[in-house]
Amino acid sequence: MGVIVAPSLLSADFGHLDRDLDMINRSDADWLHIDVMDGVFVPNISFGFPVLKSVVALCSKPLDVHLMIVNPDNYIERFAALGTMSLNVHYEACTHLHRTIYEIRRCGMKAAVTLNPATPINVLEDILGDVQMVLLMTVNPGFGGQKFIEHSIEKVARLREMIDRGGYNTLIEVDGGVNFETGKRLVEAGVDVLVSGNTVFSSSNPEEAIRRLKNL
Ligand code: DX5
Ligand code: ZN
Repeated sequence: MGVIVAPSLLSADFGHLDRDLDMINRSDADWLHIDVMDGVFVPNISFGFPVLKSVVALCSKPLDVHLMIVNPDNYIERFAALGTMSLNVHYEACTHLHRTIYEIRRCGMKAAVTLNPATPINVLEDILGDVQMVLLMTVNPGFGGQKFIEHSIEKVARLREMIDRGGYNTLIEVDGGVNFETGKRLVEAGVDVLVSGNTVFSSSNPEEAIRRLKNL
């Protein structure tokens, strides 16, 4: 069945959102990845609820929301009401991560914890059994189109081992600089979900790019 592929809305053409979301709906994409940035946790601002309301109306794929914001707890219920499937919160933004994770689950969403490139995976030791997914950032969050951080391959392999050793069924998702070459090595290292912005949306044939990513 191949790896799960989640194209990232951040790289879409917001002047032609209906056209780009039609493409996603027709494609083999499994999820739509949605990057919410507040200009505080990361040095960029993306989009908020008014835009996401339109996205939800146009998109038939499950929504994988990546919150790059401080105080994500304040917005959990609103993302659930939007119809979010999985909610990714940054480890670095959550003082009481266990509480945040259980609030996300209580609201009926899959809970995922996200790590920045410099955050070691050993911080997951006491939360791994409580989350449905770990999102490893393979670039520093904030912008699409950045260069893949090579160290991520080895980090994925260590996380794969940690998950298998614990007997968990936690998914591993990666985000940033994923192309056909880095994607293939990430899948070999044990990744379950590939997020891809530029590789999909800057392709002359985005549907074909999604198919290629799925079959790496
Ligand atoms: C970066 C975002 C990513 C971004 C990935 O902070 O979290 O989801 O859209 O874009 P690419 O695939 O172009 O690196
Ligand atoms: Zn993201």
